[in-house]
Amino acid sequence: MLKVGLIGCGFMGTMHANCYKALEDKVKIVAVADVRREKAEELASLFNSDIYADGKDLIAKADVDFVDICLPTYLHAEFAIDAMEKGFDVFVEKPLCRTKEEAEKLLEVQAKTGKKAQVGQVIRFWDQYVWLKDFKEKGEYGKLLNASFKRLSPRPDWAWDNWLHTPEKSGGMALDLHIHDTDYMRYLMGEPKEVKAVGIEEKPGLNEYIMTIYKYDDAILTAEASWDFPACFPFTAGFRVQFEKATVLFEGGTVTIFPADGEAFSPVIESACTLKAGSGNISDLGGYYNELKYFLEYLENPAGENIAPLKEGARSVELALEQIEKANK
Ligand SMILES: NC(=O)c1ccc[n+]([C@@H]2O[C@H](COP(=O)([O-])OP(=O)(O)OC[C@H]3O[C@@H](n4cnc5c(N)ncnc54)[C@H](O)[C@@H]3O)[C@@H](O)[C@H]2O)c1
Repeated sequence: MLKVGLIGCGFMGTMHANCYKALEDKVKIVAVADVRREKAEELASLFNSDIYADGKDLIAKADVDFVDICLPTYLHAEFAIDAMEKGFDVFVEKPLCRTKEEAEKLLEVQAKTGKKAQVGQVIRFWDQYVWLKDFKEKGEYGKLLNASFKRLSPRPDWAWDNWLHTPEKSGGMALDLHIHDTDYMRYLMGEPKEVKAVGIEEKPGLNEYIMTIYKYDDAILTAEASWDFPACFPFTAGFRVQFEKATVLFEGGTVTIFPADGEAFSPVIESACTLKAGSGNISDLGGYYNELKYFLEYLENPAGENIAPLKEGARSVELALEQIEKANK
């Protein structure tokens, strides 16, 4: 049984705690920390965990195997570095950190301490996106020619201290939300040869809309993101991917294959977890459950490889920041 210390009991901390509850044969939250006592108490009640008033106290005093960091983005690097230096393995939410310098420092500390770490680039674990990667790699319908991804959300309104809408703390929508597709496109296709980006800079450093184009030798991928939609607008994420012999559409929760010859059909995509998330703009625990289960297995396997290591998270932060800079020119 692995013992985790959960730091940050807000929106994503609650999501992770519910996943650990669904995985309680493998893991126990022995300690939680939040500067808001009531938030820490809510999650502590799930496992009867110890409560710390600050993440730093938890890292200094708790007896845990790993630390899960669900803090606002600008605090990720400081706390993840502290945890690794104290000897803990670390799961850190996406984006890995706020700046390129922090990303470099994180990699340096990980190399020095040898700690295991995973970044919460959850789309790598999201059932339909896992399916798409596998579908592409099998190559049954030929090469990928072009693809379009989207992630559109009502304005998120839950963040503690308004950190999400403070550009120096979150990097704004283009670092916080668009990084999901930035990271996934790299995961699917590798590093693009050329990146273009356009966006709307509402205030210095704050892009509420962005569109990026990735050029590969023989493929073009685009991704669009915004979180400036009205509260009644449904959260929408999906893709359309054209292969040589079929087009694939993920829309309204369903994947459909349109083959060059024959009728459209929907593949069966198994979900490991269909428990409802119960809050925010996320419908079920699926991808979060998958990534945390994967991390627990990785921790228990001494030679295990990881598909979402810090260096991948670091590269996606670097690319997202590059896109923001291009969009703002
Ligand atoms: N993977 C995803 O799909 C996804 C979705 C939403 C958020 N996130 C990421 O998760 C992270 C957290 O976002 P959120 O939406 O949960 O934010 P949030 O504001 O809801 O929660 C952050 C929590 O951290 C607490 N906190 C602040 N300083 C602290 C400290 N020093 N010690 C202990 N607790 C402290 C706050 O009180 C708050 O409860 C962000 O990096 C965000 O980008 C990821």
